[in-house]
Amino acid sequence: IKEFGYQPSVNIGTSGHVDHGKTTLVEAITGVWTSAHSEELRRGITIKVGYADAAFYKCSGCEPPQCYGTQPTCEGCGGKAELLRVVSFVDSPGHESLMANMLSGAALMDGAILVMAANEKVPQPQTREHLLALSVLGIQQLVLVQNKADLTTYDEAMDNYKQIKDFVKGSIADKAPIVPVSAQHRLNIDSLIEAIETNIKTPKRLKDVPPIMHALRSFDINKPGAPIKQVKGGILGGALVQGEFSVGDEIEIRPGLMDEKKNRYEPITSVISTLGTGAGLVDNVKPGGLVAIGTKLDPTYTKSDSLIGSVIGRPGTLPKDVEDVTVETHLFDTAVGTQDMVKVEPIKAKEPLRLNIGTAAAVGTVTSVRDGKMEVKLKKPVCLMPKSRVAVSRRIAERWRLIGSGIAV
Ligand code: GTP
Ligand code: MG
Ligand code: MG
Repeated sequence: IKEFGYQPSVNIGTSGHVDHGKTTLVEAITGVWTSAHSEELRRGITIKVGYADAAFYKCSGCEPPQCYGTQPTCEGCGGKAELLRVVSFVDSPGHESLMANMLSGAALMDGAILVMAANEKVPQPQTREHLLALSVLGIQQLVLVQNKADLTTYDEAMDNYKQIKDFVKGSIADKAPIVPVSAQHRLNIDSLIEAIETNIKTPKRLKDVPPIMHALRSFDINKPGAPIKQVKGGILGGALVQGEFSVGDEIEIRPGLMDEKKNRYEPITSVISTLGTGAGLVDNVKPGGLVAIGTKLDPTYTKSDSLIGSVIGRPGTLPKDVEDVTVETHLFDTAVGTQDMVKVEPIKAKEPLRLNIGTAAAVGTVTSVRDGKMEVKLKKPVCLMPKSRVAVSRRIAERWRLIGSGIAV
């Protein structure tokens, strides 16, 4: 992607049950294995949301789907293919214990691929829970992938296809195309690119508005014991939802850090010293694709994802952080994240809940419930955009399970 020198224009998420092949599929398209942290390698699962970029091309001399590819030279005829757009993949973890990470990543998706293994019954628990999560967060542009087609006979694949059709009936994925692929053997990836190009459009972005970025990562990139003079400032990773940032801009990060003396969170201000995207270092970033902001902050503030869930904007332009949120809530009939589905009981005062708002996973206690609205006191404040979508989770059998959707009012 470096050769273009510009940022991808759209974030495409992956979703689906553990081990169904999301990361393998992202690798088949982008050439990048995104789950490279030591614990991910040891456990063989994705833990943190991964990301990788690809460029999509179309050859004018070949028929679809063969005309679609990720190289400037057409794989079919060897002719020159035309660049369609540069895209980013946001790769979710599928393990049931990692729904919070999936929901944080989903806050940045413009569209999503739901990956289902063709050699397993449809739906598996996180197939259901991820599809609901996408629907709660308003992600409407979908492509369904029937992966591991290499492991099934034709009849088994057709039976699995029917199960997918039944499963998505009446859901947001009702009209989404179903593309059979083998991610491992890189089969039918051209059809998948065609389906993405047709079904996941680059959204129109608001331009002349103050920038808003949601942080999905934060790090300290310094080696332990680096000489003070060489120490680089803290880094924030995430995506803008509107506006632009340039090197040299002043930024405010909310809710910021706990001020022990004042006993409350105080926003942090800093200056953008570098901007990175899949295209390398750039002067300016806009929505679409993950970006990394280099700041002048003490890197201890940003290490180990300590600022995940923060919102970054220009000083004075972000809404205030809130600790008490009122949410108009719609509960599902059943919690779908386990093998046996569990009836969702009404929300009760004093119960603990988790609210995913933007990239933040905020745990709190219900203080009141009435007329379809609940008030929740959060343990840590969130910078709340007006009318934010909220994913509501409750602890069921020792795990947080998605039980409803909401709008913060
Ligand atoms: P999580 O992120 O942990 O939810 O898993 P994932 O959905 O990213 O699955 P991953 O890509 O890690 O693949 C899981 C296993 O399935 C690996 O052993 C892959 O090699 C295998 N796999 C993925 N795609 C295919 C495929 O198309 N065919 C076959 N036979 N195996 C596949
Ligand atoms: Mg994975
Ligand atoms: Mg795996």
